Amino acid sequence: MRRAIFPGSFDPLTNGHLDIIKRSSPLFDEIIVAVLNNPEKNPMFTVEERCRMIEEVLPQVETDDCDLIVDSFSGLTADFAKRTGSSAIVRGIRAVSDYEYELRMALMNRRLEPEIETVFLMAAEEYSYVSSNLMKQVFTLGGRVEGLIPALVEAKMREKLAA
Ligand code: PNS
Repeated sequence: MRRAIFPGSFDPLTNGHLDIIKRSSPLFDEIIVAVLNNPEKNPMFTVEERCRMIEEVLPQVETDDCDLIVDSFSGLTADFAKRTGSSAIVRGIRAVSDYEYELRMALMNRRLEPEIETVFLMAAEEYSYVSSNLMKQVFTLGGRVEGLIPALVEAKMREKLAA
């Protein structure tokens, strides 16, 4: 059983995240989309809201034999990976600018849990500039983000802004 976690804040989920989940699915039997519980960062969506949104959107992702699961965690990613019996941590790299941060995290996670490998996948070019923060900023200022985030996520962002 090859299990991996795909950790992140997912505040909110973008089409770039979905692209990475799809690309990683042939490599594993099970992928846990691991949502970081980070209330101190003042996220737009609570961890429960993020998990629910991801659960609703994941059926759109075509996978052959890979089960997709959503879970949340607090504390260290490496601990969560170990606790869930995962052999890999999946991360997406969009551009060279991501590399340094990702390398530092991967090396630290390896130091913490030497048995767990970080697997980097390249996001599709059309999502190479898409980040949750950019999507929130553009959307909040009235810009168009369709095609870059799932429609359901966009609707939830609209609800949040209206509230
Ligand atoms: O995609 P994001 O939002 O940049 O994800 C960052 C995330 C959640 C993977 C990273 O912040 C993380 O792993 N946080 C948990 C705490 C931890 O393990 N820190 C040490 C990483 S080496």
